[in-house]
Amino acid sequence: MKRRNLMAIAMAATMLTGLAQAQQTTLRVFSGGQNQRPDLMRQLFDQYQSANPGVKIDIETGGATSELQRQYLSTVLNAKDSAIDIFMIDVVNPAQYFSSGWIEPLDGYLGSAANVMKPYLPVYASANVVDGKVAAMPAFADSMFMYYRKDLLTKYGIAEPKTWDELAAASKKITAGEGKADLQGLSIQGAPIEGAVCTFLLPYWSQGKAFNDASGKMTLDKGAAVKGLNAWLNLVDQGVMKKNIAEVKTGDTVNEFKAGQVIFAINWGFAWDRFQGDKDSTVQGKVGVMPLPAMAGGKSATCIGGWQWAVSAFSKSKQEAAKLVRFLSSPESAKFLAVKGSLMPVYPGTYTDADVVKAVPWFKDAAAVVVAGQSRPKSERYGEVSDVIRTTTSAVLARTKTAAAGVDEIESRLRRVMR
Ligand code: GLC
Repeated sequence: MKRRNLMAIAMAATMLTGLAQAQQTTLRVFSGGQNQRPDLMRQLFDQYQSANPGVKIDIETGGATSELQRQYLSTVLNAKDSAIDIFMIDVVNPAQYFSSGWIEPLDGYLGSAANVMKPYLPVYASANVVDGKVAAMPAFADSMFMYYRKDLLTKYGIAEPKTWDELAAASKKITAGEGKADLQGLSIQGAPIEGAVCTFLLPYWSQGKAFNDASGKMTLDKGAAVKGLNAWLNLVDQGVMKKNIAEVKTGDTVNEFKAGQVIFAINWGFAWDRFQGDKDSTVQGKVGVMPLPAMAGGKSATCIGGWQWAVSAFSKSKQEAAKLVRFLSSPESAKFLAVKGSLMPVYPGTYTDADVVKAVPWFKDAAAVVVAGQSRPKSERYGEVSDVIRTTTSAVLARTKTAAAGVDEIESRLRRVMR
């Protein structure tokens, strides 16, 4: 009798272990590069694992810049590799990934696009819906801002500049007064990275020009584009930007600003946390944030960024993956990322949440910036659009091409891609 009982218990235990094993799902998540804060994402994964003991989440991180990540994911997904279940992608990518068949539409798991996207800022609701389907879920918002040395502007009695000319004048006054040879007036991203697409578009947009229409067709005004690129070169000639600006990447601007070598710096939302929170930052408490200056006679324009979570079309655990993605794009996750890493919320209401405003005071006005900002073109061929604009812009800034030749090239190479 005893023996029979023991055997029954042993059998039940074996069955339970088997069941537990069967229920254990491992999800592998590609979580972007350093600027996408995989350390904070890991904390979100840990929270999810504790609440869902049947799920284990492995994290994989990628190259530092958006285009490097795009290259990597393109290779993995072209090969229909099922190793990655979920990947984080830049706001410029859902259209291309979806039309390539790399993304599992999430409607069947989360609901219709109209319902699922309703709570999010409109730009993400639009970027993540492709052919009427939910291609990805918003992770965090982003926008380019002008960070500046508040202490130095105050010291020299200078108001926030509204135009690039005013910014040049402010920089010259401060650099002359400070007498430091290594103090740059302005730092932008001129290296041939994804961010250089925005570097091209900012002065162009601020002349009131559109790069494309709603259908994605290119509407390039060549004169305005040349004028925009020349405005950057002009700032180099005036000594406001450094000569090797064509080599500068997002992280270089952040590091040089942190080291106190830059007065004005164009960068993304995450940079605030680096300036205020990094141990090696020399500018804590000295940083202001303002809208980007405009070209004379134009109006301020900024470039919208942001990151999304997509489920791989080749995942073997799509149901579980969709569930995790819903959690990652929840209001709770948005708040966590805003408070811990100054990653901008995808929900309009989170910007004015008391804890968020306490952590990042200027977020209280930042939702309006994201709503008013402009987006890079939504295109199934975005990879090509990006390659042409960022490499040409960098070459013009390196002076291996004139602005006019660069713009001709953009026009002729993209005419067939963006039609
Ligand atoms: C930021 C933005 C992203 C952009 C990238 C460019 O990460 O969020 O949209 O493409 O910077 O460097």
